[in-house]
Amino acid sequence: MSSGMRATGTRDTVVAEPKASRAPVPVWLFFLLFVLLFWAMYEFDRRGGWFHSQVYTPYRSLAELQRYQPATGGISLERGKVVYETVCALCHNTDGSGKPNQAPPLSGADWVVGSPDRLIRIPLAGLTGPIEVKGQTWNLAMPAMGAALSDDDLAAVLTYMRSAWGNQAEAITPDQVAAVRAALAGRMQPYTAAELQAIP
Ligand code: HEC
Repeated sequence: MSSGMRATGTRDTVVAEPKASRAPVPVWLFFLLFVLLFWAMYEFDRRGGWFHSQVYTPYRSLAELQRYQPATGGISLERGKVVYETVCALCHNTDGSGKPNQAPPLSGADWVVGSPDRLIRIPLAGLTGPIEVKGQTWNLAMPAMGAALSDDDLAAVLTYMRSAWGNQAEAITPDQVAAVRAALAGRMQPYTAAELQAIP
């Protein structure tokens, strides 16, 4: 008797049972998804740094972090070394000796210790075709590896190259780099050695 009443009481509280049914996903949801995706990609593109080691390298000490700060006025050889090792050493080797079939040497190369106006153009616009370096002919191509560097950083790395590995030539200033950059007026075409020879 008492159990029967409890059962009744339970049945009374049961409301309509949920049923599985199909409803179309609203179109605006797709739209929102698309907009969110686009926004996310845009933000990644803008702030992601494209996994560049200069952005994502973990710092192990405060001193190391300070070494990676952009140069602020003046030329720092230490900064130049850091930029060289991050951007150029991959092909030209850490000791500037070059790598067979990859890149010619920078140590003892006339192109490095000679005319600043020629030298600055190489990382800014790139280089292609036959070039003689220390009596050996190379015929490869170098992309504009320095075009994304600031005037300070490019001046620092070139100055470093001109004073490292036994090289001895005067410093390159950020002003010199800025002047050449302006003269190139956004030129994207890589130089040939012959074209550079014509520059004083
Ligand atoms: C992807 C590989 C690569 C990277 C990175 C690279 N270079 Fe080069 N570099 C080359 C190649 C290849 C040549 C020869 C191109 C040719 O044969 O015309 C060259 C030639 C040169 C030359 C003239 C020849 C010589 O050896 O003296 C200079 C100067 C130079 N690079 C400077 C730089 C600087 C500065 C950087 C960094 C900002 C840099 N390169 C980064 C591949 C590279």
